[in-house]
Amino acid sequence: MEKKRMVSGITSTGKLTLGNYIGALKNFVKLQDEYEMFIFVANLHGITTPIEKEVLKNNIKQSIALYFACGLDPNKATIFIQSDISEHSELAWILTCNTNIGELNRMTQFKDKSSKVKANNGTEYIPSGLLMYPVLMAADILLYDPELVPVGKDQKQHIELARSIGERMNSKYGNMFVIPEEYTPKLGSKILDLQDPTKKMSKSSSNPKSYIALLDNIDEVKKKIKSAVTDSENLIKYDLENKPGVSNLITIYSCLKNISIEQTEQHFLGKDYGILKEEVSNEVVNLLMTIQKKYEEIINSNMIDEYLEKGAKKAKIVASKKINKVKNLVGLNYKRK
Ligand code: AMP
Ligand code: TRP
Repeated sequence: MEKKRMVSGITSTGKLTLGNYIGALKNFVKLQDEYEMFIFVANLHGITTPIEKEVLKNNIKQSIALYFACGLDPNKATIFIQSDISEHSELAWILTCNTNIGELNRMTQFKDKSSKVKANNGTEYIPSGLLMYPVLMAADILLYDPELVPVGKDQKQHIELARSIGERMNSKYGNMFVIPEEYTPKLGSKILDLQDPTKKMSKSSSNPKSYIALLDNIDEVKKKIKSAVTDSENLIKYDLENKPGVSNLITIYSCLKNISIEQTEQHFLGKDYGILKEEVSNEVVNLLMTIQKKYEEIINSNMIDEYLEKGAKKAKIVASKKINKVKNLVGLNYKRK
């Protein structure tokens, strides 16, 4: 039986975090046997807000090495860099011409990010890439005809937009795309900020104590978990609304131990926050030490280039076939019917 296809990417804007690991990478690794996976570093998305050349280059290489260090296997999954497959940008333009500004204006991520730009420099100069970002994401997805797109909760709205654009194109030009479903993990699709657990953990946070980066120094990680915001109740119970900090630690522990929330609550029954933090810290430290060891091996070898070349070749076959079909159906190839 043919395997179902999945496509996903992670933006190369900064260091990958524990949130990226639990919400995305861990699942990619788990699913790579069962599905035909296409996983890329979204470096074109990485330039939507200004970024220095050397920082960007470093982020791209680091992200790829981390994908492998976290367990993505180039013999199972197709792993590549977004900009190596020019069809992503080409399709993005065709989709842009079939997307309304109103739809893009309604995206929560755009509203959040553009309001930050405004607040920072007091002007209306919002990069237009920030508005167009979800169209490029729709192109990333529709290009490969996946049935599923594994992402964290924050990407839900973008996947819905990709589906509407796909459906619109299909009804306007004839069937050209498979309409995908989003796939979010039952647990861990939104790991929270350690200092402000009402927000998601984000690599773009200005306070490094808020997030754990996969390449963080181990002593720093221990300190960050120790200083994670909880509450004064000293009761280890999952209650996202009233106890977001504690619930976040419970989620992290459950995800890393691969057990349910109930099992974690049972495990910590009658124990205090000190113990909770210590045990969460041990799990995170174990994970990070394993990842960092593999990362060092990979980053200092020439495996990355070899694997990427292999991945790009496989992705290119699918992408070029699809872009030709799209161009024919839209009427861009004057010789074709
Ligand atoms: P980004 O870093 O925004 O490019 O996100 C890459 C992937 O990681 C997406 O599938 C996100 O939904 C997921 N992700 C990012 N931050 C978190 C988080 N704090 N918790 C769970 N998933 C996350
Ligand atoms: N926008 C996604 C994020 O920030 C990353 C991404 C880009 C993506 N293209 C994608 C995810 C295609 C899934 C499919 O999380």
